[in-house]
Amino acid sequence: MCGIVGYIGEKKAQPILLNCLSKLEYRGYDSCGIALSASGIEVHKDIVRVKALTRALPTLDGMAGIGHTRWATHGEPSKLNAHPQCDCKGRIAVVHNGVINNFQKLRDQLTEEGHNLTSQTDTEVIPHLIEKYYNGDFEKAVGLALSDIEGSYTMIALMADEPRLIAARKDSPLIIGIGDRENYIASDVPALLDYTSRVIYLEDGDVAVVTADTVEVKQNGAGIIREEHKILWSVEDAQKGGYEHFMLKEIHEQPKVIRDTLAEYISAAEPAADLTGDDGSSMDDMLVLACGTSYHAGLIGKYIIEGLVNVPVRVELADEFNYSGHVSARNKAIVITQSGETIDALKSIRKLKEAGCQVIAITNVVGSTASRIVDRTIYTRAGPEISVAATKTFIAQLIALYWLALPYSRVDIGRLDDLVLEIRQLPVKVQQVLDNEAAIADCARQLAGFENVFFIGKGINYPVALEGALKLKEISYIHAEGYAAGELKHGPFALLGDKTPVVAVVAQDNTCEPMVTSIKEIKARKSPVLALVGEENETMEGLADSVITLPQIDPLFSPVVNSVALQLLAYYVARERGCPVDFPRNLAKSVTVE
Ligand code: G6P
Repeated sequence: MCGIVGYIGEKKAQPILLNCLSKLEYRGYDSCGIALSASGIEVHKDIVRVKALTRALPTLDGMAGIGHTRWATHGEPSKLNAHPQCDCKGRIAVVHNGVINNFQKLRDQLTEEGHNLTSQTDTEVIPHLIEKYYNGDFEKAVGLALSDIEGSYTMIALMADEPRLIAARKDSPLIIGIGDRENYIASDVPALLDYTSRVIYLEDGDVAVVTADTVEVKQNGAGIIREEHKILWSVEDAQKGGYEHFMLKEIHEQPKVIRDTLAEYISAAEPAADLTGDDGSSMDDMLVLACGTSYHAGLIGKYIIEGLVNVPVRVELADEFNYSGHVSARNKAIVITQSGETIDALKSIRKLKEAGCQVIAITNVVGSTASRIVDRTIYTRAGPEISVAATKTFIAQLIALYWLALPYSRVDIGRLDDLVLEIRQLPVKVQQVLDNEAAIADCARQLAGFENVFFIGKGINYPVALEGALKLKEISYIHAEGYAAGELKHGPFALLGDKTPVVAVVAQDNTCEPMVTSIKEIKARKSPVLALVGEENETMEGLADSVITLPQIDPLFSPVVNSVALQLLAYYVARERGCPVDFPRNLAKSVTVE
């Protein structure tokens, strides 16, 4: 949540900061701002997107600066609440990502001491605390200010006449980009791809003093060496590449994502993770935790693992698990988080570790917090995903779950061989779905005028219905609900009628017949039905109002092709309704606050 950047070097900071911020907007986009150090500190901020701020600003001086793109926590989106926030004299500017729990107490104290705090933000206490403690030593003042703060405070501070930036990481990511006589600071890798591929990942509690030529990292005041890493993502990965939206580009990248993710797993010398119990037998119980779209991947994972490996799998929302979930050292757990930074997922990992549980993370981000606190990480190779709505990272998570389960499969060898052949065919099958884009866009146009839509599925395609509904609601603002087909009659039937279409995901397995029955019942209530079916499935003829035909595939892998079709459906509905597809209102891609 919130993207922060810093630059210090030999170039003008303004265009660099604004460019970096434009790559971090997926973290929040209520408002944005920059502060530059030239003759004093100059701050420019507004409740606009980065592009508009860039257009509005004159050319500014300063070869050091900081920037911020906001997802509001304390205080509504407004010019006053936008970051950077400053001290009384306007000599210290701070950008911050996190939540300061004791901010009201600090604010009251500072006010009593004569500081004039004008915004509603928690962040504003930081520059005022630095001002309070400043006695000629900027670094010391920042250290004292941070020691007063409870909560999460990943931040960068800039001070007039100081040739350095001071950054601190607590509970949300921060990386340093190493350049040639210039250095960068950013919340995430995509911000830096245009400038450098050399990065240092800061750890919780790190304070970094960054000049144009040096980076000094400290923990509790003592210097510490943090290894330099090379980023493997390319500049093109984070560009639209001729597509109208990142989401469409990311949907179209999926055949390659599946190929890359599979190639890595196939070439690995050993299985992605150990799914056996401590004594080598099959495990008692597996726990899968995640949030949002990753949770839906986890639910599909339950069907994959239970179906193939024959161990019970419990899937829980990470946040709910944090407040109630039972865990013992005998559980093995998988935490799925594409960003590796979602606060609820990280809290659940810590709870699992405290209980003595072995934890596997499935994540897309190398060096992410999740990857550093678990026992084993399985990386998906989706490349950077910029659009807020997750698409290719979700499909890559499914591939990881299939590959995790296949080596432990209890199915007979013939069936296993077929499954391995079939999974290798997935890039081709997904390409066939993409080639059918125009027909899916036609169906989307029919759906775009409705305000309520149900999605139904059964078995392994029930979570696909949940994900289809989530995709539609988050980017088109149509109220959409995913239901297990058999549950629809236990309440939601009251809402059916000609103004409430139902999207039905029909698989070619033992769920097909009951799905047909459900659809007949729905049709009897006059709801228009759009069905997704395999090309050899004729059950929807004369039954569904419209049909999206998909390549024939083993039912185990049907969530992949069905989900890609539903992603395209949501995309074209949102486009038809003129919605800002990549940056839906009120959302952020990486949710690093509770
Ligand atoms: C946010 C994003 C979702 C994502 C969820 C979990 O809500 O908008 O797209 O599924 O966070 O994110 P994670 O990085 O943990 O998978």
